[in-house]
Amino acid sequence: MQRTDDGQVIRLSDYCPPAFRIRHIEMLVSLTEGRADVVTAIHAERAADADPAVPLELDGDALTLVSLEIDGAPADAGRFSATPDRLAVRDLPPAGQPFVLRIETRLQPEANTELMGLYRSNGIWCTQCEAEGFRRITYFLDRPDVLATYRVRLEAEREAAPILLANGNPSESGDLGDGRHFAVWDDPHPKPSYLFALVAGRLDVLKDRFETASGRPVDLAVYTEPGLADRATYAMDALKRSMIWDERRFGREYDLDVFNIVAISDFNMGAMENKGLNVFNHKYVLLAPDTATDGDYAGVETVIAHEYFHNWTGNRITCRDWFQLCLKEGLTVYRDQEFSGDERSRTVKRIASVHGLKAQQFPEDQGPLQHPVRPRQYREINNFYTATVYEKGAELVRMLATILGEAGFRAGMDLYFDRHDGDAATIEDFLACFAEATGADLEQFALWYDQAGTPELEVRESFSDGRLTITLRQSLAKGAAGTGTEPLHMPVRFGLVGRDGTDLAAEPSAGTAEVEGDVIHLTTAEAQIVFENLSERPRLSILRDFSAPVTLRHEQSREDRLALARLDPNAFGRWRALTDLTGEALRDAAAGASAEFDPRLIEILVDCAAEERLEPALRAQMIAVPGESEIARLVGTNVDPEAVHTAREAMIRAVARNGADTFRRVRDALARPGEAFSADAESAGLRALSNALLMFLSAAEGTPALAREAFGRADNMTDRMAAAAILAHRFPDAPETAGALDEFYRRFESDPLVLDKWFTLRATVPEPGTLDAVRELAGHPKFSLANPNRARALIGGFATGNQRVFHRADGEGYRWTAERLAELDRLNPQTAARLATAFRSWRSFEPVRREQARAALTDLAARPSLSRDLSDILERTLA
Ligand code: TRP
Ligand code: ZN
Repeated sequence: MQRTDDGQVIRLSDYCPPAFRIRHIEMLVSLTEGRADVVTAIHAERAADADPAVPLELDGDALTLVSLEIDGAPADAGRFSATPDRLAVRDLPPAGQPFVLRIETRLQPEANTELMGLYRSNGIWCTQCEAEGFRRITYFLDRPDVLATYRVRLEAEREAAPILLANGNPSESGDLGDGRHFAVWDDPHPKPSYLFALVAGRLDVLKDRFETASGRPVDLAVYTEPGLADRATYAMDALKRSMIWDERRFGREYDLDVFNIVAISDFNMGAMENKGLNVFNHKYVLLAPDTATDGDYAGVETVIAHEYFHNWTGNRITCRDWFQLCLKEGLTVYRDQEFSGDERSRTVKRIASVHGLKAQQFPEDQGPLQHPVRPRQYREINNFYTATVYEKGAELVRMLATILGEAGFRAGMDLYFDRHDGDAATIEDFLACFAEATGADLEQFALWYDQAGTPELEVRESFSDGRLTITLRQSLAKGAAGTGTEPLHMPVRFGLVGRDGTDLAAEPSAGTAEVEGDVIHLTTAEAQIVFENLSERPRLSILRDFSAPVTLRHEQSREDRLALARLDPNAFGRWRALTDLTGEALRDAAAGASAEFDPRLIEILVDCAAEERLEPALRAQMIAVPGESEIARLVGTNVDPEAVHTAREAMIRAVARNGADTFRRVRDALARPGEAFSADAESAGLRALSNALLMFLSAAEGTPALAREAFGRADNMTDRMAAAAILAHRFPDAPETAGALDEFYRRFESDPLVLDKWFTLRATVPEPGTLDAVRELAGHPKFSLANPNRARALIGGFATGNQRVFHRADGEGYRWTAERLAELDRLNPQTAARLATAFRSWRSFEPVRREQARAALTDLAARPSLSRDLSDILERTLA
């Protein structure tokens, strides 16, 4: 049974340190078919400053207490009370007298459909404890500021579970007779309970070794379901590269004898950084050229790095409480972004990150689920693993690096690692290290963590007699999640671009904001910067590299913006100028203001595709037409998704018509017939450009022939998916499409990760008939709500990837989705709640749809016994 909502709100301002310390834990987990017996010995002591009368109150969730001993003797019934979600023990010794509680619980992992705590995935026993899953295994002070060392003994049948894994280093193992065996694992590093993990089952393994900079040998292993270990080679390679990178870039070495990764089919999120035993959604481990796209390869590299980097930012230094989640997540995302940038192309990676931020975090920050990077309250912490905490959190760390400079940032990080190793820390602790290491005053900067909403940055410029005046003004929307609207410290990177496409070397002669190199430090609501004696009127390239996560309103002439799209020497600046121009053109077209696109803009898009000096991956990013939900966000209010779809199609056709000859020529020149497949970034870039051009060419020709041919010829999943998507989305009724999708299905029907792609492909066809298709797919023998990847592929694919049909005017898209969410909530509340965020922008649609969405949401929210996860999202979405 899932927890239903008790409406209780947890507040940061109520934080109190725990009244008891738990320094060491010994656990025995005995696994048999249908049940798990858990005995936990907790070595505890009352805190020195705690009330000597206060009972020890341990958290539980759906637990059954089998027995309780205190210091080796059965506890008297009068000394404790146990419910499924709490174990209270009275009359415990005063501070200075450690005691041991021995708690026995019995679990049913097979019945655990929430995938939190101990559960089984395809027969494999595994755990997920972040944020509050450990309390589903045993009663505990399940909060991140309780750090203990763990010794874990696992017992199971050798046949069912030849592999027995837990955190830390392996110690003893052996036979128990009766076909059973055991393994003991020791984790010497004190850790919070959310980092606990165990895995047991029949698994294949890919092994490797690593030697740290100081000479410590580490045994590396990636475990998979039987027969799949050969798909883990890229993940292993990414792991070793991550380990080297963290040593070089941050001076951080690995600290155990083993590092284990396990790939699991049923998983609520991407992956989990459990100490020494990372557990992954198999989507972020398993790759083969024939089954995975270049996007999948990049995703594996990112997530492997992310979880590995958590070993220092998250595990060695953890969070004091869950309000500080961005302390580990924002920082670790920043680190994985930097890693990917270094391993691939910095500009391409930065553009991808900014694109993701605008597509995911901006709508969250501008809608009803808005919250500060450090929230001040929550009802269900699972609902705060958000784009704001992760991606905006990473942007705040990036701004810190921009403000302090590379050396200052590194000095602050060094001090943070040094001072807080072994701590459960706060954002204040983190910022204090940078302030101290550099002498900077970060008090104003700290407001970024507490003020919700996307700030606006308004820029105006005037030029006469060689004198350029730039005026910057910042503002935060009033009433943003009840948080403040104080001016923030915004680092604004800029360049003055001359006629010849180089940056003018100019120093400001006056101004009310500090300028350091190419960064303006905007710290007031408004500021001016003046440049004098300029030999020409420069084009202002502002907010380069997206140096602050803001909405830019730049009053700049169309001529200047078109010029920047062509010749800004900063490639990010070109991308920004171009996507802003296409975005505005689409917004105006979708709002009915203009049906014609500026031919100069179309021409630049076409020219970009052919521009030899730009790397192909960058060209693909430049010519990408913004997606329908991005356009909807730009329209902002009274969105009509039909008009958005029509506008986007019109732009695709305009570009295709004007560019067909160029695109054909460029695409032919990119072809590398006979060359063996390589997953490296450069090859991926060639494929990205080639497939972007294939889409335009198919639109220009208006027939499925090209895409069908590409589909048949594809020798890798990137090209196959790209062709299939063109067929499915642009030629839904063509016999070529039906043939290709059937072929795809038959070939990959027993490969779950590829089958997910097929479900998503079918759910994202932007035609009214897709509603019948998704209804049918929900009854498909291969569909299952119990597997989160499959549920996300169909429901998420439809609700977030098919704006036109999800937002049908008759409300059927909303009602179908709400119905599935209600079903899923009974199995897996966390995944249901996450999928429900697809409704977050409902208020920006035109009145008919708005009313339909409101009705569907209200109806869903009124159902009895919804989980805390889902009702929290629904109530905030409707508020
Ligand atoms: N800490 C994990 C990460 O960012 C994510 C995570 C949080 C998670 N809660 C989870 C993963 C629940 C799986 C299930 O890497
Ligand atoms: Zn993380």
